[in-house]
Amino acid sequence: MKLWGGRFTKETNQLVHNFNASISFDQKFYHQDIEGSIAHVKMLAKQGILKEADKDKIVKGLMEIRQDLERGDLVITAEHEDIHSFVEAVLTERIGEAGKRLHTGRSRNDQVALDMKLYTRDEIDELSSLVKGLLKELLKLMEENLDTYMPGFTHLQKAQPITLAHHVGAYYEMFDRDCSRLFDIKKRMNYCPLGSGALAGTTYPLDREYSAGLLGFDGPTLNSMDSVADRDYLIELLSALSTIAMHLSRFCEEIIIWNTNEYRFVEIDDSYSTGSSIMPQKKNPDIAELIRGKTGRVYGALVSLLTTMKGIPLAYNKDMQEDKELTFDAIDTVKGCLALFTGMISTMTFRKDVMEASAKNGFTNATDAADYLVNHGVAFRDAHGIVGQLVLFCIGKGIALDDMSLEEFQAISPVFKEDIYEAISLKTCVEKRMTIGAPGQEAMRRVIEIYKRKLVE
Ligand code: ARG
Repeated sequence: MKLWGGRFTKETNQLVHNFNASISFDQKFYHQDIEGSIAHVKMLAKQGILKEADKDKIVKGLMEIRQDLERGDLVITAEHEDIHSFVEAVLTERIGEAGKRLHTGRSRNDQVALDMKLYTRDEIDELSSLVKGLLKELLKLMEENLDTYMPGFTHLQKAQPITLAHHVGAYYEMFDRDCSRLFDIKKRMNYCPLGSGALAGTTYPLDREYSAGLLGFDGPTLNSMDSVADRDYLIELLSALSTIAMHLSRFCEEIIIWNTNEYRFVEIDDSYSTGSSIMPQKKNPDIAELIRGKTGRVYGALVSLLTTMKGIPLAYNKDMQEDKELTFDAIDTVKGCLALFTGMISTMTFRKDVMEASAKNGFTNATDAADYLVNHGVAFRDAHGIVGQLVLFCIGKGIALDDMSLEEFQAISPVFKEDIYEAISLKTCVEKRMTIGAPGQEAMRRVIEIYKRKLVE
């Protein structure tokens, strides 16, 4: 059934129908479309715009359609332009005259704006719970690895010793911000466009507060032109999704490096790895690579919608139909990545011995050796130079600072005493860093407590 045949004298060209139709993708929110229609007719009846008997018939009919779609007893077909026409056509076919009254005081412009908001709101909840699931997994890893020493890097060169808990904690912060971004978006978008009509409201005495309340919104939107033309919340969501994808991608990049034959810091579980068709020895980190790779399409969706929206005069224009496929794809992609990533790290083996040996071998305690001198009265710039000489000496002999004899230390600076070994041990280097935010156990435990309290909120 067409919703608009009256003023036309010719059939629509088939290619035009195909090009214009959105049913192949907007069927994704049939559930929300029906939910919105039920709230709309309840409001119409309350306002005396629709008879109670008609409302009852429509609500019953819509609920049956939803049930049949869920069970697979009703199939959505391509001859309909969009999900809105489909539902109205089936309803009218099933309940007759009353079905034709469903669209009273409504346009597809406010209808589609509503459906997309309802769908997005539900998806934000799902995304939030996936991010929270990941946060819980990261927190577990942190608690288990408060004294798993590893090198911290800058420029991908070993810099100073840290712990695995501290490294994972950096990602905890990123995903925690992602979670709060999703929360903010939901709060800001949660106003109901229903009742805005095509662009200028309607002449019916609609109760927009009532339908907004029925649908769990904080209230109705306040400008009908903006209501049908606003896609800001989708741009915000795509931006938040791009940031989540970027964070996942960074972590995946590290896991790929840590999983190399050279690093061997981690081993990805067999259940999350793949093999090669020709090289029997290979076990590849395909999942981490794919998550890294999928970041591109999520960024693409953001840039695509920004570009689509930039030249659209008020109010509704068909260009905006383009918001759907790319938003759906970005949401599904990020949901998949979050689930796979969480599974991958929760089954991954961290080789604590290899990490610790790596921290020991890369002069990550050089700053602490310099600090030792400073604590004994040497100016920092001089201390920096002295430790530089120590490092050069060690490189020549192929040893670590810890392996030097006290005589060798004192030959370079007489300030060194027996307690230098204690001062530059990995444990001391990490545990002395106990200001909030640093890797020392004491500081990390305080941070973990804060995270735990926040997670249950
Ligand atoms: N499929 C359309 C969309 O996604 C629904 C709104 C159609 N409105 C219109 N005036 N043609 O935007």
